[in-house]
Amino acid sequence: MKDIILNDLKQYGQEHLFTFWDSLSDAEQRELLDQIQSIDFALIARLYEHRNTPAESLTLADRASDPPAYKFSTVTDQTPCKPRKPVSVEEAVSAGNDVLRRGKVGVILVAGGQGTRLGFPHPKGMYPIAPVSEATLFQFHFEKVLAASQRYGYHIPYCIMTSSATHHETVDFLEQKNYFGLRKEDVFIFCQGTMPAVSLETGKVLLDSKGGIALSPDGHGGMLAAIARKNENGISVLDCLRQRGIEYLFYNQVDNPLVRICSPEFLGYHLLSGSESTSQVIRKRFPTDKVGNIVEVDGRLYVIEYSDLPEEVARKTNSDGSLKIWAGSIAVHLFNASLLDRTSKIATSLPFHIARKKVPFVDLATGERIKPDKENAIKFERFIFDLLPSADNAVVVEVDPPNHYAPLKNASGSPSDSPETVKRDLAAMYADWLRKADAVVVAETPVEISPLFADSPETVRQKIEKGTVFNTPTYLKSSTQ
Ligand code: UD1
Repeated sequence: MKDIILNDLKQYGQEHLFTFWDSLSDAEQRELLDQIQSIDFALIARLYEHRNTPAESLTLADRASDPPAYKFSTVTDQTPCKPRKPVSVEEAVSAGNDVLRRGKVGVILVAGGQGTRLGFPHPKGMYPIAPVSEATLFQFHFEKVLAASQRYGYHIPYCIMTSSATHHETVDFLEQKNYFGLRKEDVFIFCQGTMPAVSLETGKVLLDSKGGIALSPDGHGGMLAAIARKNENGISVLDCLRQRGIEYLFYNQVDNPLVRICSPEFLGYHLLSGSESTSQVIRKRFPTDKVGNIVEVDGRLYVIEYSDLPEEVARKTNSDGSLKIWAGSIAVHLFNASLLDRTSKIATSLPFHIARKKVPFVDLATGERIKPDKENAIKFERFIFDLLPSADNAVVVEVDPPNHYAPLKNASGSPSDSPETVKRDLAAMYADWLRKADAVVVAETPVEISPLFADSPETVRQKIEKGTVFNTPTYLKSSTQ
């Protein structure tokens, strides 16, 4: 077996992966063979060959124009958007409620990232982020899905994507927490794939140990292949969703506790504009804001990642001074299940992006593990937002950060997107809801509302007496919690 594989590797100049073979135990040898067999070396060779080809997005930026956009009802900014076709808030909410009542919507959460910037040694979803209860990011998301299931009267299937870096801890944590009230059979946990890191100089796959390849998650775009991968019974997550009659998938990242999962208004714009993929965006605060830029080119939507947008293009303004490229993706999407099904069958639906990184590796001459102090490797990742150009009639919905977006990205003490800023933004939104419901929140008093208690100022109003005063830290939760 080893000799056949070795011959294969020679074709691609990767036979060094067997350098330490003789020093490995039987189990280690089996493990190494499994890893080698999971790698598509022809693909790695092709990707390395094209490592210096400029990203397609660089050629798009010059031709980019405004995407068709709707404004979510909580947005106060008056800058006009051009919708694909006019849809009122009432029409959107009613259409969204209708598909939810008919049980047509599932939810996907991507939670496979390594959270390097946050510096938390566990999956990011386990981070205690709530300002009063210290509920974790996972708890926020699960309670939102449970609240929507209760409101619309069906068991919403909840698909959680993990990676080799987060899988076991996530499974154990969710099991221990009893899926925060969801039924186990409605939670589909699936693991994304991996890609090897290669040497920047030679294209050779790096060893992380004498018997192990330097592998890392293949990017959140790995979701497309992972959701369509058949398990040992020949059934994929997409098959399960199809069997349950799911036609639409709400998609979000683990890092944003403000996300409005299954918002009927958001769904409604998607449905009534005939879109196959709809994305939430915020109006960029400044040209180089670190968010993906959603633009239209030749009638299709694309995301140009912030790191790929030339600064002179980012700075272009309209005659009223507003930014030409204004729509910053917050990585909340709604996909038709049929779009995921169609594109998952085409291996090239999503391109690979290359990232130059510092990756520890085993020196082949000495067997020593080296931690490089400068970039020595290339990692390959796919991004789910590269699906947008494949979608017919794609649109965006502008949302406001105070009600939709406070992501946890950076370590404590950072000026933005840190634990402190997220807790502050959560408490500010809940205080605003309570005040809109005619309660009094004394300044600086942290308040928190479980998604199972209420999900908007209107639902708070139904549960709180007018004039109620909040002057100590308060967590409002449902009677069953
Ligand atoms: C991401 C988007 C950016 C968007 C911003 C909004 C990318 C490349 N950029 O930036 O356009 O404006 O979010 O907050 O995504 N993940 C996986 N598997 C992986 C890698 C990541 O599941 O292999 C998940 C993470 O758990 C996380 C999410 O994807 O939930 C985002 O990943 P991250 O690398 O933090 O993206 P950002 O640079 O923050």
